[in-house]
Amino acid sequence: MTEQRFLHGQWSSRMAFILAASGSAIGLGNIWKFPYLAGDNGGGAFVIVYLLCVVAIGIPIMIAETMLGRRGRQSPINTMLSLAEEAKASPHWHYAGWLGVTAGFLILSYYSVIAGWSMAYILKVGGGFMEHASAATAQSVFLELKASPDIQAIWHTAFMVATMLIVSRGINEGLERATRVMMPGLLIMLVVLDIYAMTTGGFGQGMAFLFEPDFSKLSGASVLTAMGQAFFSLGLGMGSIMVYGSYLPDHVSIAKSSLVVAAADTLVALMAGAAIFPIVFANQLEPGMGPGLIFETLPIAFGKMPGGSLFGLVFFLLVFFAAITSAIALIEPAVAYLSENRGLSRAAAAWWSGLVCWALGLGTVFSFNAGSGATWFGKNFFELVDFLTADIMLPVGGILVAVFAGWIVKREASEAELEMGGAYGLWRALARYVAPFGVGLVFLRAIGIL
Ligand code: PHE
Repeated sequence: MTEQRFLHGQWSSRMAFILAASGSAIGLGNIWKFPYLAGDNGGGAFVIVYLLCVVAIGIPIMIAETMLGRRGRQSPINTMLSLAEEAKASPHWHYAGWLGVTAGFLILSYYSVIAGWSMAYILKVGGGFMEHASAATAQSVFLELKASPDIQAIWHTAFMVATMLIVSRGINEGLERATRVMMPGLLIMLVVLDIYAMTTGGFGQGMAFLFEPDFSKLSGASVLTAMGQAFFSLGLGMGSIMVYGSYLPDHVSIAKSSLVVAAADTLVALMAGAAIFPIVFANQLEPGMGPGLIFETLPIAFGKMPGGSLFGLVFFLLVFFAAITSAIALIEPAVAYLSENRGLSRAAAAWWSGLVCWALGLGTVFSFNAGSGATWFGKNFFELVDFLTADIMLPVGGILVAVFAGWIVKREASEAELEMGGAYGLWRALARYVAPFGVGLVFLRAIGIL
């Protein structure tokens, strides 16, 4: 195929795609969210359900979504429209693309606030404020940040501006370069933290919490959270990986790339969990302390280890990088759409989208302080947006992708696009039956029907 198939450019190689897709997958979801959700939902059993969802639902949907992207070669909305046309199906399928674009906006709005916390921590930990910090000090430093809407708003703004600067420069230059440097660095830092965790005295307990399942602790809501987290962490169900797939050269193996990305994503989440829970137990803290978990625990570790301020600085800097490569993916579907259909330049599309996300994000900033009393269905603004996106919109988007790729796209088309030989049948069965029914079951269980 010729270059003309690509509207927005193309990845320079298979490795570039893997790096970018891992950049999208690996982010706050792995380092910030996975540990606190595991902590809130009782540990081991949650982790097992999460892993099951990654393998049986996440990976087949990742393959499906990337495949649709490469075949459609446009923004998710237009890709769904033209593939539906190709398969002689209803054009209404393009609403799946809209669902994704909306989910991306909503997620980025709060994602940026949390990424802002990690930016604040680059200075706090790097500046030595946490040296020899007790658990109580680490907690009070975090609570102070949570109580300050102004400081959070400043970092939230800084993060959004940084993201849009990269997005406005386009895919090859911005995304590839950013991802290439941070991945190995993040892994090294996690290894350092895991080694520290082994010396804390809480290691056995931490591991048991994370890996020994106690299914009595698992409610229908926890199962839904685990599944939602699988979608969130892999970056599925909202068109990000679809749009990344649209920049993928022909004949790069989608299945193999997806396996590598999913494995890397899962490894990073588990390594983060293995670093955090030993610190929790060694300091007699509560695993279920919510979104502040990494900010209240890791500084204790950095405060105790030799050279900890420097390690802490590097660590939170890498968390910031990991967050920014995911943020880029969250907004890319909207930017691709605005530049394709609304005639905006890439830069204008990026800045306008960023402005909307930024404004929405202020709702999250206030949900941790002055606005914490404002709740809907018992959830504050942040919790509500998180629930709607991760637990509802992404899984629904995922079902649509699986059904579309498995049932609507013609067999010859998907077989030719995937070129996965004998494993094709397995993928097709997972996409047609296991993924949609799996997600459906979890929904029914969460609303108490099963
Ligand atoms: N996967 C990212 C993370 O774990 C977040 C994300 C969600 C990115 C959806 C893209 C799409 O932090």
